[in-house]
Amino acid sequence: MPIATIAPEVHPNLQKFLSKKIHPMLIGGRWVESASGKTFKTFNPATGEVLGVISEAGAQDVELAVSAAQKALNGSWSKISPAEREKILNKIADLVESHSEELAQLETLNNGKTIRESKNGDLPLAIGLLRYFAGWPTKIHGETIPVSVPYYPGAKFLHYTVREPIGVVAAIIPWNFPLLMAVERLAPALACGNAVILKPAEQTPLSALRLGELLLEAGLPEGVVNIIPGFGPSAGAALAAHSGVDKVTFTGSTEVGREVIKASAGNLKRVTLELGGKSPNIVFADADLEAAAKGMFMGVFYNQGQCCSAGSRIFVERSKFDELVGILSERAKTVRQGPGLDPKTQMGPLVSEEQRQRVLSYIDSGKKEGAKLLAGGEAVSGAGYFVRPTVFSEIKDTMKIAQEEIFGPVAAVMPFDSVEEVLSRANDSAYGLVAGVWTKDVKKAHQMAQNIKAGTVWINCYHFVDAAAPWGGFKQSGYGREKSQYAIESYTQLKSVWVDLN
Ligand code: NAI
Ligand code: MG
Repeated sequence: MPIATIAPEVHPNLQKFLSKKIHPMLIGGRWVESASGKTFKTFNPATGEVLGVISEAGAQDVELAVSAAQKALNGSWSKISPAEREKILNKIADLVESHSEELAQLETLNNGKTIRESKNGDLPLAIGLLRYFAGWPTKIHGETIPVSVPYYPGAKFLHYTVREPIGVVAAIIPWNFPLLMAVERLAPALACGNAVILKPAEQTPLSALRLGELLLEAGLPEGVVNIIPGFGPSAGAALAAHSGVDKVTFTGSTEVGREVIKASAGNLKRVTLELGGKSPNIVFADADLEAAAKGMFMGVFYNQGQCCSAGSRIFVERSKFDELVGILSERAKTVRQGPGLDPKTQMGPLVSEEQRQRVLSYIDSGKKEGAKLLAGGEAVSGAGYFVRPTVFSEIKDTMKIAQEEIFGPVAAVMPFDSVEEVLSRANDSAYGLVAGVWTKDVKKAHQMAQNIKAGTVWINCYHFVDAAAPWGGFKQSGYGREKSQYAIESYTQLKSVWVDLN
């Protein structure tokens, strides 16, 4: 099997990890090959070369993983104290931190993102999530509630609530932030005492598997986390439908989100969904224009535009439109594209050939529908799945490129003339994940924040996230919240206990 050339500067631990002939899956604390013996390849998107061969989970492996998770829940994991869970989570955080160099490289090799983004974004955020949720197990508590019973006057009762784990949590995650998404689900799920089955995206299974090794090193009991790489329609669908799974946390396309809801109906699973977006990034003429120009660029092109929160609809107040769009297009034209491991690279490839084709077809539709191309608009020839950062103007709100999530480096820029106009256009979307607003006028900023229908509004900043801040969408961007204290609510269920004191 031809394995992609591993550059000499790649961390020795990573060289060793990547030299495995087959990457097995983690079930019940053991590294095993799939029951069917099937495998699939994962690629380095910067070169198109094979980076590893992975055991492919199917329905039988899902069965084994669910049994292992249930066994852990009914066994050792339920007996571990909250303080012990904190310790384990902190140990995992320490291990991820001390291995962050190699994990950042692995993320870049498998996903394509630049090493700067892996090192300064994905890894510190993942460690931050682990530490934030490590603090929670000893603080998850119920309340005593004064109760009255009208049909039993004068009677006394003690009533209290308890927050209990939901049980077996299936985390079905995408490929755009593979390690970060894995940790974002594992950390709160474990803090609350659940057992987890993690299905990484088929494009990017490697960092989750390396994380699995660190979880065992941290002393996590067997079966508490099971990691089963595989494809959506087989492994993903089997997990979403399995009656032994109590909750599904899903991030990905809106279309598959709907499938997950349908599949959950059988045993009425808890479901949280983090789906697509077509987010507005709105720049008023009175903004700090230099900051806004950077925010426009980074908002739409970060991670090659493969962000659920990409600011892909850029609205600029008409008097500054030409100036700002000029800066954006010039920067787009001069971006240095290349393999993410090269420290000089400013933008990496898209994750897969499939994603590149999807993005190119949107670019074609923009051209056909009559939008004006200001920068990019094509693939980069040669190896790897590169697309030039693309800027379109002269957009009609009804065009496909103004309505649908592209999930690639494509910006639609549009002028506007008033607050009312931009608000109604910004909200004219099936999605409502995030929005950006750039203005020095405090009143206007807060009026916008109040009226925009989105789960997060960034004022004079963009793409800021933290473990303590809730994350999730309005409208068809999904429901439920990840991160923050609200994740603690969504990874637990509340029990009401009555005690007769009469
Ligand atoms: P997808 O929604 O098909 O895949 C996401 C995850 O769901 C993967 O782990 C996949 O294996 C799994 N999956 C796929 N079909 C499934 C099914 N029937 N049941 C259970 N799990 C299933 O996303 P895909 O195909 O990778 O990308 C398509 C588009 O989705 C992108 O162009 C983008 O617009 C959107 N997307 C949004 C993301 C976000 O962060 N909100 C992340 C990834 C994709
Ligand atoms: Mg898909």
